[in-house]
Amino acid sequence: MEPEEQHRMPVIGEPAPEFEALTTHGPLKLSDFRGKWVILFSHPADFTPVCTTEFMAFAAIADELARLNVQLIGLSIDSVHSHLAWVRSIKEKMGVEIPFPVIADLDMKVARRYGMIHGKEGTTATIRAVFFIDDKGILRAMIYYPASNGRSMPEILRLIKALQTTDAHGVATPANWQPGDKVVVPAPRTPAEIEKRLKEGYECKDWYLCFKQI
Ligand code: BEZ
Repeated sequence: MEPEEQHRMPVIGEPAPEFEALTTHGPLKLSDFRGKWVILFSHPADFTPVCTTEFMAFAAIADELARLNVQLIGLSIDSVHSHLAWVRSIKEKMGVEIPFPVIADLDMKVARRYGMIHGKEGTTATIRAVFFIDDKGILRAMIYYPASNGRSMPEILRLIKALQTTDAHGVATPANWQPGDKVVVPAPRTPAEIEKRLKEGYECKDWYLCFKQI
């Protein structure tokens, strides 16, 4: 693999790179989930403290994600045996069942293709990445965190709901949007659209900033 390929970043709006991988739930392909949204996330390593808190936090939102037609998939560059032993320890010691598959990416194929490995040459720990892939297989959003800081599950839930709201209603969501809040109507692009917009009955601060309740 060429060095530039090792750090190739996927691109929002393009098809999420297909992969076939071994997981704690057996082999799977990304395309097996077409028709569902997928949240693919990486963690640095098994049996580490922040990652353990994150796994329990992802498990806590798994049912809500399932109701939103979202499949969670974890990943790190560890073996299936290590993943299984860690998941078992989380169940035994913390009483939390991990319901989602975890990819054992020992050959780093998925991690490299998704730009999950940052840092010095030879590093095998993935950073804390989250990829939001829609039901048609398109990559819609990415979040990257460093190893030192755990992710925010409320933000992950908020973003998946925002993306699904965008698809359902053809709208955008403003800063700090939460379900139930007003959404943003896409800005007009021509003088005729501006005139039309001002008569459409939206709550407009100016011609380019209009809100509506859905
Ligand atoms: C952790 O999960 O605690 C962790 C993993 C890698 C580096 C730093 C922290």
